[in-house]
Amino acid sequence: MPANRKILITGVSRGLGRAMAEEFIRLGHTVIGCGRSEKAIIELKKQFAPPNDFAVVDVALDEQVATWAKRILSSHGPPDLLLNNAALINRNAPLWEVPAKEFSDVIDVNLKGVVNVIRHFVPAMVARRAGVIVNFSSGWGRSADAEVAPYCATKWAIEGLTNSLSQELPSGMAAVPLNPGIIDTDMLRSSFGGASSSYPSPSRWAKSAVPFLLNISARDNGRQMTAPGG
Ligand SMILES: NC(=O)c1ccc[n+]([C@@H]2O[C@H](COP(=O)([O-])OP(=O)(O)OC[C@H]3O[C@@H](n4cnc5c(N)ncnc54)[C@H](OP(=O)(O)O)[C@@H]3O)[C@@H](O)[C@H]2O)c1
Repeated sequence: MPANRKILITGVSRGLGRAMAEEFIRLGHTVIGCGRSEKAIIELKKQFAPPNDFAVVDVALDEQVATWAKRILSSHGPPDLLLNNAALINRNAPLWEVPAKEFSDVIDVNLKGVVNVIRHFVPAMVARRAGVIVNFSSGWGRSADAEVAPYCATKWAIEGLTNSLSQELPSGMAAVPLNPGIIDTDMLRSSFGGASSSYPSPSRWAKSAVPFLLNISARDNGRQMTAPGG
């Protein structure tokens, strides 16, 4: 792995994605990131000069991911580390009260969005037989609770999908599902309410999670991982 790595992060506009981007860049790596919020992406572009690269992309839309991947692969080449971080959580509710549209949105981003990114970026990584893919799972990808069934369903799916993917990659590569821990972000506030403030901030979490992510290698392929710091 090169000393200056190319790190692709989905969902870079806030929460864990934003904190990871800042920490990777502070350590001298190049971050290529996306999110839906135009305002946040403009801010990131102002804050971090090229070769860092931030774009407005909705990972749920396969054509948008295809266009983004084409541009990134021709200007930067394949990423060394691909972090499928972008996700949504449903508003707390028993499953039978979750509207069809909300259920679809969670599946479209958390599951199909991850596959869209894999579909358009991983062939270039496989051609080089190098790189690590980290699909963000959750404690709720390994256990379950009431009122977050749609989210749990997607994170359990991420665990299975990543295990299959790990068996398809050539040697020299890795795909792992990662439980980041519990961190005080917009997503946590949605499910935990005020109790979320007793958990670490994203920037504090990133100080230990980022070195951990940089250490994942081919020997970890297929391992269920949990980040420190959360
Ligand atoms: N926080 C925790 O305690 C915790 C625990 C377990 C697992 N996780 C996992 O960790 C990851 C990050 O969570 P977080 O807490 O940082 O969540 P968050 O604060 O809600 O941030 C989610 C990020 O994803 C982006 N995003 C959402 N939909 C998108 C789409 N369609 N296309 C592109 N970007 C999109 C959001 O930006 P835009 O709105 O600008 O698109 C935002 O940057 C998620 O996979 C989550 O499931 C978090």
